[in-house]
Amino acid sequence: MTDAKSGTATHGAAPTVEGATEHIWCRRDVASLAASTAILGCLACAGAAVTRMLFPRVLFEPPTTFKAGYPNEYIVGEVSERWMKSQRVWIVRNDREIYALLGICTHLGCTPRWLGPEGKFKCPCHGSGYTIDGVNFEGPTPRPLERVKIALADDGQLLVDTAVRYRHELGQWEDPQSFLRYTGA
Ligand code: FES
Repeated sequence: MTDAKSGTATHGAAPTVEGATEHIWCRRDVASLAASTAILGCLACAGAAVTRMLFPRVLFEPPTTFKAGYPNEYIVGEVSERWMKSQRVWIVRNDREIYALLGICTHLGCTPRWLGPEGKFKCPCHGSGYTIDGVNFEGPTPRPLERVKIALADDGQLLVDTAVRYRHELGQWEDPQSFLRYTGA
């Protein structure tokens, strides 16, 4: 603020000619500051909204398909646990075909174990058991394990998709994509 008579700048409260006190923050200044603050707040909110629109929250899921090597890498009569840890899938080969079983118990979703010497999948949670084909035969589970899509990729490797599932009790194991015919060496 400037002294009316001398024209010099003053700081804080300054005595007037009459000796009264004039405050540096008059009512008009306070109202102006409040309005400026409100406008800045609105601009900040609008900026945040625009930024959020430009960068939407997207959930990046891991891919559901993976190449599982060549069919002849799997041995007839064996359950391969090669992909169990990373993909939660067993790959099983018999003398006619190769199929992929999802490692999720159909009772309440625990992860069963393959018990090689006993030739069965066994769930540690409530004791459900499944044959090597994935068919339930003991414990509380009401249905077999699920198969997932399996096919041959262009380069001859197995291509597995865990997002596409086949349920035995619904007749879906007849679907040609739920297994791969393979009798090679
Ligand atoms: S979750 Fe597997 S038996 Fe219950």
